Amino acid sequence: MSFFSHCLIILLLVSIAFAHSLDEWRTRSVYQIVTDRFALDDDMKERIICDPIRSIYCGGTWNATKKHLDYIQELGFDAVWISPVFANIDGNDNIGEAYHGYWTKNIYQLNAHFGTEEDLLSLIDELHRRDMWIMMDIAINSMAVAGPITPHSFKEHVPFNNPSYYHPLCWVDYELLDIKNLQDCWLGDERIALADVDTENPVVVEKLERWIKDFVEEFHVDALRLDAVKHAPNEFWKKIAASAGVFTIGEYFTGSPKEACEYQKSGMDSFLNFPLYWPISWAFNRTGMEFDALKYAIDQERGNCSDVTVLGTFISNHDLPRIAHNNTDQARVMGAITFNFMFDGIPFVYYGTEQNLHSYHDPFNREPLWEYGYDTKNPYYSLIRTMNNFRKQVIKDDSEYVKRISHILKTKRKYMVFQKGDVITVTGNWGVHSPEGLTIQFMPDNFRQGTELIDIISREKFKVNARNTLLVPIKNGFPRVLYPANKFKESLPQVNCTLLPEVKFVPSVTVTTHYVKPPTTMPEGYPKGHHPSIYAIAVERSGQSFSLPPAQILIQFVLILFLAQLVAFVTLVL
Ligand SMILES: *[C@@H]1O[C@H](CO)[C@@H](O)[C@H](O)[C@H]1NC(C)=O
Ligand SMILES: *[C@@H]1O[C@H](CO)[C@@H](O)[C@H](O)[C@H]1NC(C)=O
Ligand SMILES: *[C@@H]1O[C@H](CO)[C@@H](O)[C@H](O)[C@H]1NC(C)=O
Ligand SMILES: *[C@@H]1O[C@H](CO)[C@@H](O)[C@H](O)[C@H]1NC(C)=O
Ligand SMILES: *[C@@H]1O[C@H](CO)[C@@H](O)[C@H](O)[C@H]1NC(C)=O
Repeated sequence: MSFFSHCLIILLLVSIAFAHSLDEWRTRSVYQIVTDRFALDDDMKERIICDPIRSIYCGGTWNATKKHLDYIQELGFDAVWISPVFANIDGNDNIGEAYHGYWTKNIYQLNAHFGTEEDLLSLIDELHRRDMWIMMDIAINSMAVAGPITPHSFKEHVPFNNPSYYHPLCWVDYELLDIKNLQDCWLGDERIALADVDTENPVVVEKLERWIKDFVEEFHVDALRLDAVKHAPNEFWKKIAASAGVFTIGEYFTGSPKEACEYQKSGMDSFLNFPLYWPISWAFNRTGMEFDALKYAIDQERGNCSDVTVLGTFISNHDLPRIAHNNTDQARVMGAITFNFMFDGIPFVYYGTEQNLHSYHDPFNREPLWEYGYDTKNPYYSLIRTMNNFRKQVIKDDSEYVKRISHILKTKRKYMVFQKGDVITVTGNWGVHSPEGLTIQFMPDNFRQGTELIDIISREKFKVNARNTLLVPIKNGFPRVLYPANKFKESLPQVNCTLLPEVKFVPSVTVTTHYVKPPTTMPEGYPKGHHPSIYAIAVERSGQSFSLPPAQILIQFVLILFLAQLVAFVTLVL
């Protein structure tokens, strides 16, 4: 063995000792929080009225997050993704404040709104004490500058404190479909510009490599979620991922599996599964593109990606409408959550899903969670808890489980049945008023006549019949997750299957306007005519808490029109 390969082995051992492997990450599930909106300190002196539409700091801190870790751990999560921690630019009256953390100003300083360095370290220590891992959100491809945009000195930006570190000003234009434009131009606009850091400049790259390495070490970071991956070249991410030496997952906002899967060659370990996000939402919110289209998208992604089992599966995040937005049917939302956990990939859940929040796009979807009471008894919280705990049990029973690719046993427009190892999932979009006597019939893999399976949601049992077939009745449109009864553990927390009273979605103000089309919302090549062709944004507020005098409604209306533009832009930026 040469000297070189000796060194390689030693290096490998060293990195294994510190970082969790890809295989370890596959077994985890991630809870995503916006620090400013997740929890308040008990002794907070003055509470502000936290209406997400105002886009201002609402007071959430790392200390408060730490105090609410029971709530997250009870839900069964063993990793937490927190919003960016670095110092941001100050508020701007036009456009709100940087409570979300994506308007970076100084990557060597923390955002004082959320606490001190000791507070952050203490949160991370507490997570580790509970065997929960921390995922940091990293937005380093740009530095924010408040408008009006005149030639800027960048004197206060750290470490990129002069214009030579940036690409010259030009605006990103998605319509151009030009990679150079996406990578070199600036996101944002005249109000808040995101000055594009020149990620091809070797001096820049070297500074960032050193910085990320130090940051990961100093804060015992377990993973990085890399923001706006589309806006810097693959070569750059490769270097960042290598210096970080921990699990990396990229945000590549696209509906195209081909484009997204390319980034599995970038040196990042994973990406958030945007290509499946839209097909999943459409399937469960019944807008015409149903499960056959989801199947189509799944096949395309499997055809393009080197490994789909490591992708981050999600059904909502801080940029997208919540899964329950305009989808008040309990069974469909529960179906989407079940799919999120039982299908291939690492499950990611955006805070508030467990309280069935149903807001639209940002800024609406960054609700102050403290206003919803951290209820741990409701059906959604209990479903997520069961999903997490069940998944852990299955991983214990079958060490290959997380690497298995689900076998899709049956797809119809209204439902899908798939089997991953010994777990069979039946999910559909029938809704709570599913037809009386509805029964789904399919042939499972490997289970022969007489095998008894238990549905971990209802705890009902079913037997494989003489034709090696299962007949599963559907009740109230609820999903079913079947597991061999002889392996089932009674200690698994029970799902609260209470049927909730139906919530009517009453939009008080509805503004419909055309809006920048997301890159792709349909699986490419999926037959047209199956899905709605209009991309519209409707800004809605739920009826209960929203009654304003006419003058205010007018102001709100103008504000909403403005916000609609903003939302379109921010969604693409973040
Ligand atoms: C966070 O909590 C610690 C320990 O209770 C306390 O010393 C510190 O001052 C708190 N941080 C803030 C910003 O209040
Ligand atoms: C269904 O989900 C898609 C994708 O997120 C969204 O564009 C559409 O507006 C949703 N429909 C309803 C009724 O919420
Ligand atoms: C890869 O994805 C593209 C769409 O992004 C699709 O047209 C193509 O058929 C896929 N390739 C395979 C091998 O599935
Ligand atoms: C919400 O649902 C209502 C009723 O189905 C529909 O009229 C409206 O267009 C939907 N809004 C969105 C944003 O999809
Ligand atoms: C089930 O959920 C309902 C509605 O949130 C709640 O009232 C009830 O207490 C819950 N039951 C249990 C056993 O947690």
